[in-house]
Amino acid sequence: IEGRLTAGPLAGKRVIVTSGPTHEPIDPVRYIANRSSGAQGTAIARALAARGAEVVFVTGPADVAPPEGVEVVKVETASEMLRGVQAALPADAAVMAAAVADWRVKGPTATSKIKKVAGAMPVLEFEENPDILATVSQSGGADRPGLVVGFAAETDDVVSHATAKRARKGCDWIVANDVSPETGIMGGTENAVVLITGDGAEEWPRMGKQAVADRLADRIAAELG
Ligand code: CTP
Ligand code: CA
Repeated sequence: IEGRLTAGPLAGKRVIVTSGPTHEPIDPVRYIANRSSGAQGTAIARALAARGAEVVFVTGPADVAPPEGVEVVKVETASEMLRGVQAALPADAAVMAAAVADWRVKGPTATSKIKKVAGAMPVLEFEENPDILATVSQSGGADRPGLVVGFAAETDDVVSHATAKRARKGCDWIVANDVSPETGIMGGTENAVVLITGDGAEEWPRMGKQAVADRLADRIAAELG
């Protein structure tokens, strides 16, 4: 892998990072997705690689280019993302920064374009996508990374939503942020996060996404020892 560093506090550690949105096809020309530029996940992968980690970067169709010095696995759907992550296991840590679509259109993907018929709206039926973070967090044995970090974009009571999410998913840490419109976080270059661990909630000051990534990578390095 070009530009890969092998020295640093994370040398010899393998870390999986998911990033970007997933696209769930409706037909050959349409999809449903979450809003995600992939900027925060990309910054995290870059920060981990800069500290010597062997990074597998499993990314949906993001706006930003993947960082250098990481193994890039490009996927479209949540199911492909899960397979990409599982193929990359075992790992010392996993950081799930992707904005995974919660649902996909039920049944086999239409191979023909759905045509517009005046006044007749299509009705889509959905089914749930696999939860990649929960699947990895709750996998037993050697395939369970020692440290699994999830993300939670929340509104209202961010800490209580994120704390409940950490318990529900079974991950070790949650990086939570407040995406209420008035924070201006969504789609911006800065982030204001609360790190939820087994010890409680730690509020970080508002900073650039790369600074959040660097601080998180330092914490991960300290945790993995
Ligand atoms: N996640 C995942 N697979 C999914 C959905 C979410 O891996 N199918 C991961 C995300 O990458 C993130 C974390 O789970 O790290 C939380 O995602 P979020 O959408 O906040 O959680 P949900 O359980 O889907 O809850 P919500 O109803 O708030 O969307
Ligand atoms: Ca979700």
